Amino acid sequence: MGTVTLINNETNEKFEFEILKPTRGPQLVDFSKFYETTGMFTFDPGYGSTASCKSEISFVDGKKGELIYFGHPIEELVEKYKFVDVIKLLIGNGYIFPTREESQAFERELVRRSYIHEGLRKIIDAFPSGAHPMANLSSAVASLSTFYYDHIDMEYEAEYQTMARRIIAKTPTLAAFAYRSSSGSPFVYPDIDRGYVENFLYMLRAYPHGKLKEEISLLEIDALDTILMLHADHGQNASTATVRNVTTTGVHPYAALSAGLSALWGKAHGGANESVMDQLEMIGSVDNVDKFIARAKDKSDPFRLMGFGHRVYKSYDPRARILKRLKDDLDTKGIKMNQRLVEIAEKIEEVATHDEYFLSRSLYPNVDFYSGIILTALKIPKNMFTPIFAIGRMPGWCAQILELLQDSQMRITRPRQMYVGK
Ligand code: SDX
Repeated sequence: MGTVTLINNETNEKFEFEILKPTRGPQLVDFSKFYETTGMFTFDPGYGSTASCKSEISFVDGKKGELIYFGHPIEELVEKYKFVDVIKLLIGNGYIFPTREESQAFERELVRRSYIHEGLRKIIDAFPSGAHPMANLSSAVASLSTFYYDHIDMEYEAEYQTMARRIIAKTPTLAAFAYRSSSGSPFVYPDIDRGYVENFLYMLRAYPHGKLKEEISLLEIDALDTILMLHADHGQNASTATVRNVTTTGVHPYAALSAGLSALWGKAHGGANESVMDQLEMIGSVDNVDKFIARAKDKSDPFRLMGFGHRVYKSYDPRARILKRLKDDLDTKGIKMNQRLVEIAEKIEEVATHDEYFLSRSLYPNVDFYSGIILTALKIPKNMFTPIFAIGRMPGWCAQILELLQDSQMRITRPRQMYVGK
């Protein structure tokens, strides 16, 4: 095993630390005993250079612009599988269904589990009209822990699986109910004869008592299925790190997932998809793009290009690439995009990806840049963009909890600080 030597030039003390070799990505220096060894802390606000855990679930190659789930490139998964297959891949430790029948049986199980206790429906119903669906959703997921309190003490694989399948199955229902409560419309329950993704669109769109103005098309279902697959997991991003941190205190997993939902809501993170749409509407015309690009570059102006930049990707986010293609594909097949917004978005990308300020900082479109345009074409309300991100990410968060709880090195998260007070 290689080592690095640290020399304190003030005291001439030398310290050796082991180099850890991952299966993919940069090598790591094992600083887990740094304080005991040196009497000093490391300082890394935002954890830009700090790995918090070992994981096999997903890998993000920021340089190459690649994303894999359990060794499968996202492009392959989107091409060959459905979101329910990715759910199983993530919570099943890399398992791929060998047959369509097994995948369909799993999907039927999730649909059967998609119903919620009437008591929880009443809680959601009590939220005020106009509340943001993410506020309702994170509260509903925390409340779900009161209906399944036994998940606080899981021991066997079967218990982990029940906990994960339950929340993954119910999240689309809770998200749809969160929206209908916010908009003051009566809830539409899941339809046992519809698929996992289709049911979400059904619960969102149907008139009271389940009538639809027009049937949900396969094209719409497949488009949303792809979007959910692209959001399913993404290493130790802010909300996943939050889920892990909260889990280390021994709390109910649904409370940890509720914390993850709150972290995701922020516009620097999962809330960016909604902010991108606000920004495109505010820019209003391709003629105004240069002015807003200038504002994004101006340090005295707090304006930032939403949907641009990423802590890890220093190249084009592969998910944005797939979404950009999906946007064009859907448009040719009849699901019409808002061309005015498309032109503004593409003009922003064109200008920014040839501008020194963005190139020198490796700022490219991320997953949120085009997703809102597609979701709008799917007739999904803007305040539901982040809940959809959450439906996609829920299996990833569950996989991270399962991996963490089975990690013998799990300790309560407790960072240090650089005290600069009196
Ligand atoms: C997601 O981590 C993940 O994996 C997240 C995610 C996932 O799947 O879980 O991929 C999902 O959250 C995607 C990101 C969505 N957020 C946005 O689109 C919001 C806009 N982007 C920025 O706020 C920013 O790029 C972040 C938050 C995404 C990343 O922030 P970092 O890594 O802390 O980068 P930084 O703020 O240190 O920026 C480095 C430089 C700075 O300039 P200098 O100080 O070097 O002069 O780039 C500039 C920043 O000012 N910069 C931007 C910018 N993003 C960074 N300038 C203008 N517009 C931007 N969008």
